[in-house]
Amino acid sequence: MDCATFVEEQVAHIKQTVGEAQAINALSGGVDSSLVTVLGHRALGDRLRTVFIDNALMREGEPQYVVDAFAQMGIPVENVDARKEFLSALAGLTDPEAKRHAITETFYSGVFGRLVRESGAKFLLHGTILTDIEETVAGIKRQHNILSQLGIDTEQAYGYGVLEPLKTLRKDDVREVCRYLDMPAALANRMPFPGPALATRIVGEVTSERLDTVRKATAIVEEELADSGAFQYMAVLLNDRATGIRENQREFGRIIVVRCIESTDARTATATELPWPKLHQLCHRIVTEIDDVNRCLYDLTPKPPATIEYI
Ligand code: XMP
Repeated sequence: MDCATFVEEQVAHIKQTVGEAQAINALSGGVDSSLVTVLGHRALGDRLRTVFIDNALMREGEPQYVVDAFAQMGIPVENVDARKEFLSALAGLTDPEAKRHAITETFYSGVFGRLVRESGAKFLLHGTILTDIEETVAGIKRQHNILSQLGIDTEQAYGYGVLEPLKTLRKDDVREVCRYLDMPAALANRMPFPGPALATRIVGEVTSERLDTVRKATAIVEEELADSGAFQYMAVLLNDRATGIRENQREFGRIIVVRCIESTDARTATATELPWPKLHQLCHRIVTEIDDVNRCLYDLTPKPPATIEYI
């Protein structure tokens, strides 16, 4: 792929299609939406409104990290605090699909849908990549039809356009274009992180207290495994509790699973053979630094039959 030609063509296409109108995009900080944001701003400048929606499910410091990283590139990003809305949509839900559905609905029909309607934007920029389209067609992923997800019917939708400048690229091409555009390496090489964020790593109900536990464990795992070279690594909070003993008191504590995998495209995966001392260090930190956690397990299961995430 020739990055220079790709960038030139996409910027020209966005400019030509949007004309003098306003456009909007949601930035998650993942590599796809980050590249769309940079291309969109090259094409439209301040006629592109970029929002980061804080859904309460983000990692430690993530909203600020994303806003700051783009500020350094001269791109303003609005942080929209939608934490309450997402948490109330998730309250009481334990079924994995029901949780995913609540997050999708709150994002598209609720928070982002409202922003799009209120903003008067005539175009949405979306970071769909080729793999998303293939997986949608194959029925592996939920469909990416933004307009219907926004609850906009075809008549109302008339005049609205969705632009998907990355739809011919795969993940490694996206990273290559990011590097070509001199985007920070930390963004270009960012580890995959799912849209439903930490909710995919909580078995059972997603509450702000349980999010705090998994968020702290995630920070430890990401810090300890940053130089592991693994494809993806994470912490997961189980729904069970286990007996333990601390300071001569029996306790019924929480259980964290550490998952670290090798993969090339996330379709299949195997557990990374982490050295024992590293596993001990992870276990030690997780059961001593996080309140109420007294067990730490390492997941050896390949995909298939397991998936990478837990919901
Ligand atoms: P699974 O758990 O299906 O994950 O083996 C495969 C890869 O996809 C990521 N993943 C998602 N990414 N939205 C995303 O953008 C999602 O809903 C989602 N679910 C899983 C996962 O992190 C892994 O890299």
